[in-house]
Amino acid sequence: MNMPLPPDIQRQLQTALDATQHIQVLPQSAHIGALIHGVDLRAPLAAAEIATIRAALLQWKVVFFRDQHLSHAQQIAFARQFGELTVGHPVFGHVEGYPELYSIAKHRKANRHTGQAEQRPWTGWHADVTAAHNPPAASILRGVTIPPYGGDTQWTNLAAAYAALSEPMQRIVEGLRGEHLFAAPVGAQASAEYQQLVQQRRLVSEHPLVTVHPETGEKVLYVSPGFLKRITGLHARESRVLLEFLWEHAVRSEFTVRFKWEPGSIAFWDNRSTAHLPPNDIFALDFDRQLYRTTLVGQVPVGVDGRASTALEGDPVLAAHGAAY
Ligand SMILES: [Fe+2]
Repeated sequence: MNMPLPPDIQRQLQTALDATQHIQVLPQSAHIGALIHGVDLRAPLAAAEIATIRAALLQWKVVFFRDQHLSHAQQIAFARQFGELTVGHPVFGHVEGYPELYSIAKHRKANRHTGQAEQRPWTGWHADVTAAHNPPAASILRGVTIPPYGGDTQWTNLAAAYAALSEPMQRIVEGLRGEHLFAAPVGAQASAEYQQLVQQRRLVSEHPLVTVHPETGEKVLYVSPGFLKRITGLHARESRVLLEFLWEHAVRSEFTVRFKWEPGSIAFWDNRSTAHLPPNDIFALDFDRQLYRTTLVGQVPVGVDGRASTALEGDPVLAAHGAAY
């Protein structure tokens, strides 16, 4: 089985690369992930460099950079060149003094994911904030404190996952919609503080199970196992069995890439066509881990039938007010 990358997107990337000979885009697997060399993210980028990174992102869904030791302000400035930024995180807030920056540290994650991976191997996979009416378009994560081993992140290409379904199954899922809910994980030892935060800022949205990517036109199997709780209109058992199949399918190893972090590494992913898995192994290790995320504001997703997602509870994710650094 081989799903060709869309020719239009390949051409876009080739044209962009021709204009930026100093940039190398090195694919990391068949369907997802490319390492980008030859660009310094601390300074403002030339328009051609932005076009190359954007084209690589659309083709490879997640792009990686090494040895980019950015400050908080430099990370925010880099991200702003690709779109409007959200306030840190709609539920968990932001880094003090930096409204656009969200801190991802081992101690908070430990409260959220304890024990889940043993129950269901795809639990923990998610696209960011899909419980919102307009989930983020992209996320940019910078590694600062990185364990010497362990703590890898994985991404999966949900356009490739859709393309690999049989045609009859594609037709079935294209006609369905699902409810995405931000809730404390069932069975997890979530702290009282975490439970309360989530309860106070409930987010619930109904998204199509297959979305049309607003830039590439690709059909995307829009399943975010951490947030997608049920398929609208199906009986409970029908919904559960179909979702379990789709989750398992969406994270098949051939659609994925695994990234080993270093201090100064950056991962920039298209949140509209991927899901990712934060590491679970760090909780067994006695190492600190600190990363910072900036997040690009996204549009409301649209299904194959042209119908947009529906907000059920909570507010859309808005842009931060653009503080200057
Ligand atoms: Fe995430």
